[in-house]
Amino acid sequence: MKISVVGSGYVGLVTGTCFAETGVTVTCVDIDQKKIANLKKGIIPIYEPGLDDLVKRNVEKGRLFFTTSLKDSLVDADVLFIAVGTPPDEDGSADLKYVLGVAKEVGMYLDHYMVVVTKSTVPVGTSHKVKKALQDELNKRGIIQQFDVASNPEFLKEGNAIEDFLKPDRIVCGVESEEAKIMLEKLYKPFVLNGHPILFMDIPSSELTKYAANAMLATKISFMNDIASLCELVGADVNWVRKGIGSDSRIGNKFIYPGAGYGGSCFPKDVKAIIRTSDEYGHSLKILKSVEEVNDKQKEVLFHKINKHFNGNLKGKKIAIWGLSFKPNTDDMREAPALVIIKMLLEAGATVRVYDPVAMQESVHRIGNIVEYATDAYDATIDADALLLVTEWSEFRMLNFPMLKKLMRGHVIVDGRNIYEPEEMKSNGFVYYCIGRKP
Ligand code: UGA
Repeated sequence: MKISVVGSGYVGLVTGTCFAETGVTVTCVDIDQKKIANLKKGIIPIYEPGLDDLVKRNVEKGRLFFTTSLKDSLVDADVLFIAVGTPPDEDGSADLKYVLGVAKEVGMYLDHYMVVVTKSTVPVGTSHKVKKALQDELNKRGIIQQFDVASNPEFLKEGNAIEDFLKPDRIVCGVESEEAKIMLEKLYKPFVLNGHPILFMDIPSSELTKYAANAMLATKISFMNDIASLCELVGADVNWVRKGIGSDSRIGNKFIYPGAGYGGSCFPKDVKAIIRTSDEYGHSLKILKSVEEVNDKQKEVLFHKINKHFNGNLKGKKIAIWGLSFKPNTDDMREAPALVIIKMLLEAGATVRVYDPVAMQESVHRIGNIVEYATDAYDATIDADALLLVTEWSEFRMLNFPMLKKLMRGHVIVDGRNIYEPEEMKSNGFVYYCIGRKP
C-alpha cells in the first residue's frame, strides 16, 4: 500500500511516520522547502517525544519519503491524507484555503482511483467542499476519474502523539462508499489489534465528532475550574471533590484537573469553531459559550491570587514563572495561560523572570525580551518576591526548599496546577496558594 500525507506539520508528520511504521510506503509532502530539506536530513520541525527516532528508522527502512511535490506523491498512491493547517481567519472560523488548495491540486493530476481523506480539523461540510474542488479540476481537464472522499479526524495529544496514534481509543472514519471503507479498514487494522474500534459513520457525523470530543473535554476542564472556585469559597478541597466524582465511572477521572485554564492549538480554536457553526444554524451552544468564558477568566486566576497577596501593588515586584508552554512535554505556547499571566504582571509594573524546559526559544520568538530568561528553574527565582508555577513539567515537582529560600526574596508560591502539598509548603515556611484548595 502507498499513501501520501500532505502537510508535514504536527498531525501530518505523526500520521505519516506511524503509518510507515506498519510497512506502508509513505510520502510526506509540504510546500515549505526548508522543512522538507531538514526532514530529509532527519531534522524534525516540532518537539514531540519519540518522533525523531521513528522518523529516522522509517527513512532508513526506505518506507518514509519527503517531497515538496504533491504531484510526485500521487504516483500509485491509494490514499491521500490532507493534514494541512486550518488557521482561524479574521472572524475566527477555520480558513480552508490550504485544504481546498490541496484538493484542487490533486484534481489537476489525479489519474487513478484514490481515497482523499481529510485529517485536518475542519468544519462540518468540508469534505464535500473537498470533493467539489477536486471534481471541478477533473471537469476542467475533461476527464472522468473515480475517487472518494472521507473524513478521519485525529485525536492526538501533543507530547503523547505517537502513543495516541499507535494505540488509539478509537478511530473515527466518515465514508460514503464501500471502497473507501475497505481501504481505510486495511490501513488502520494494525492499530486496532488491541480491540479498540474503527467507527465507520457518515461524513458529517465524523466531522462533528472531532469538535464534539474537544468541546466535551474543554467542558470538563472548565466545569472543574468553576467548581474549584466554589471550593475556595466554601472551604472545600477540589482534590477530594475531583477524586470523589472521578471514581464514578460515568464521570471518569480524566480531564477533571483544575488548573490555569486550557490552552493549545486545539481546545480554544475548536470550541470557538463549534459555537460558530451552531450559531450559523441558528442554534446557540450556551454551555460552550460559558465554557469559553470560564476559561478566559481562569487564565487570569494566578495573577489575581498574587495581586491580592501584594494588596494590589505589584509595582517593582520580581515574579518568577515556571512553565511557559500550554502544557508539559511540548514547546507549544499557542493560547498558553503563561502569556496572559505575563501580560497582566507586566502591566501591573512587575518584572518577570521565566524558565521552561523546552519552550524558551519559542517564548523569545513570541514575546521577545519583555521578560528575563533564566538558565534553569532556580536561576529564575533569584531575588523573586514570588514564584508562579504555570505548567506542571516533571522537573518542577520536587522542590529544593533550602535553595529556594536562599535564592528568593519573598517566600510565596502560587501553584497553578496543584502539584504541591499545602502542608509541606507551610512546614517549609512558604506562603502557598493553589487552585481550589485550602492554602
Ligand atoms: C487535545 C485533545 O486532548 C486531543 O484528543 C486532540 O486530538 C487535540 O486536542 C487536537 O484537537 O488536535 P492537546 O491540545 O494536545 O490535545 O492537549 P491536551 O492534553 O488535551 O490539553 C489541553 C489543555 O487542557 C492543556 O492546556 C491542559 O493543561 C489542559 N487540561 C487538561 C487541564 O487543565 N486539566 C485537565 O484535566 C486536562
